[in-house]
Amino acid sequence: MRTLDDVEDAIRSLAVRGAPAIGVAAALGLVASFAHEAAPSRAAVFAAIARLASARPTAVNLPWAMARLRRVVESASDTPPLLDALAAEAERILSEDVAMCDAIGRHGAALLADGARVLTHCNAGALATAGIGTALAPVYTAVAAGRRVEVMACETRPLLQGSRITAWELDRAGIPVTVCTDSMAASLMRAGRVDLVLVGADRIAANGDVANKIGTYALAVAAKHHGLPFYVAAPSSTIDPHTSDGSAVPIEQRAADEVRRLGDRQLAPAAVAVHNPAFDVTPAALVTAIITDAGIVRPPYHFTR
Ligand code: MRU
Repeated sequence: MRTLDDVEDAIRSLAVRGAPAIGVAAALGLVASFAHEAAPSRAAVFAAIARLASARPTAVNLPWAMARLRRVVESASDTPPLLDALAAEAERILSEDVAMCDAIGRHGAALLADGARVLTHCNAGALATAGIGTALAPVYTAVAAGRRVEVMACETRPLLQGSRITAWELDRAGIPVTVCTDSMAASLMRAGRVDLVLVGADRIAANGDVANKIGTYALAVAAKHHGLPFYVAAPSSTIDPHTSDGSAVPIEQRAADEVRRLGDRQLAPAAVAVHNPAFDVTPAALVTAIITDAGIVRPPYHFTR
């Protein structure tokens, strides 16, 4: 990515996706987009930050990373040059994300007994972050510690991040993974084939409500019904104390053709109405615990600044 258009397109088109990854990519991308300019004006950098911050609305990591860069511009002196200061902050955002993933892995692995059968949704693994992932970090860490863990990956309609990314990632790491359609999850729980649900998050409100990929709420309801723990794993950068509860989270509505079509194949009638929110909100009451880089948080949730 060399221009601001490249960075914005990559984020909007999901070439880079996953809450932590888009925050990191936007920060590094912003710096790259100014790399050809000797001394960009503060006004130009502020405008670019504002543009990237709104490229996708739901994951808070994106405006969070942009706010960090904005503070750098606000407080920058002439030495070091503005771009160097921005690059240093972007690199910090990157390395902090790697460290937060590792910490989530360490805390969350304690919840995975030998032989654990984990159901996950969407992709909250290495390809959604700069590190080893959020929801998948405990899996990787437990496996590295010698425990056996199996993952059931919901395919995650309509863009299939579960089949296309989670299954690929885990298979490549030699971790047993089975893909199921989203609509199979409840019956797998009923059949006793799932021990716990472990998902990521795009934004966690102050009261613990969790916005995550569409379909997550249904998994939380089903887990509650079957008496299974429902865990959310996310870095501090995904916790948004400024959003009081889930009703205030902006939910991205995506193009109808993501549902009407599959690649170049038309599935539904071309003109049929489609509802395609990319995310839903799981009420805090359904969340057994939130695994963060700072530790495991249990209800009642009350996240402050
Ligand atoms: O639309 P995406 O692919 O960017 O969706 C975001 C996600 O990857 C998930 O909702 C994920 O569970 C949380 S981000 C690690």
